[in-house]
Amino acid sequence: MSKRSVTRRTLVAGLAAGTAGAAAALFLSGARSTTLGYAFRGPASDRGLGLAPPAACTPGTVGQTEGPYYTPSTPRRANLREPGTGGEPLVLQGLVLTPDCRPVSGAVVDIWHCDERGRYDNSSFRYRGHQFTDAAGAFRFETVRPGHYPGRTPHFHVKVQGERTGLLTTQLYFPGLRDANRRDSIYRDELRMQLGRAGGIWRAHFDFMLAPD
Ligand SMILES: [Fe+2]
Repeated sequence: MSKRSVTRRTLVAGLAAGTAGAAAALFLSGARSTTLGYAFRGPASDRGLGLAPPAACTPGTVGQTEGPYYTPSTPRRANLREPGTGGEPLVLQGLVLTPDCRPVSGAVVDIWHCDERGRYDNSSFRYRGHQFTDAAGAFRFETVRPGHYPGRTPHFHVKVQGERTGLLTTQLYFPGLRDANRRDSIYRDELRMQLGRAGGIWRAHFDFMLAPD
């Protein structure tokens, strides 16, 4: 795992200042913004994923700590893969839904994760990015499967927010890693993705349920 290039104190201070500045600019422009400072821009263009909502939704996706490596103001992009990576290709997709399974369109989904060797990039935006859901509430990232680092089972970090919902910060976990998942003190079964593999690409799926404000 990489050493952090900034202290937690400066990271938190910078995050607070950056988010406040972005929020102020958006307030002056009349646009709504997420808690993270990204301007809501309406639904993304149709991704054509054809994902069906689950038969039964849940009261709300459980939140988890963001951990020490969140970086604000990530690039808006769907492809997080890096040239020359040794990581196994993975597509993470799913829906953002209300607790009664209606799509949350135009919601921001911001993800970050370590590389295949368990290292976070804390000086730029390697394996970090955000996007907005389409009219069906769908999102889709192309990235790689994150590796292990001491004390944690492999996971994605995620922040999700709709224009009229609170901010959800949570983590997503992999099936098939029983021992690693069991040893991780914050692992939760309900945050486990569905996972398959086709054509040499891992296909991960998770639906978020966000309660309106
Ligand atoms: Fe992490």
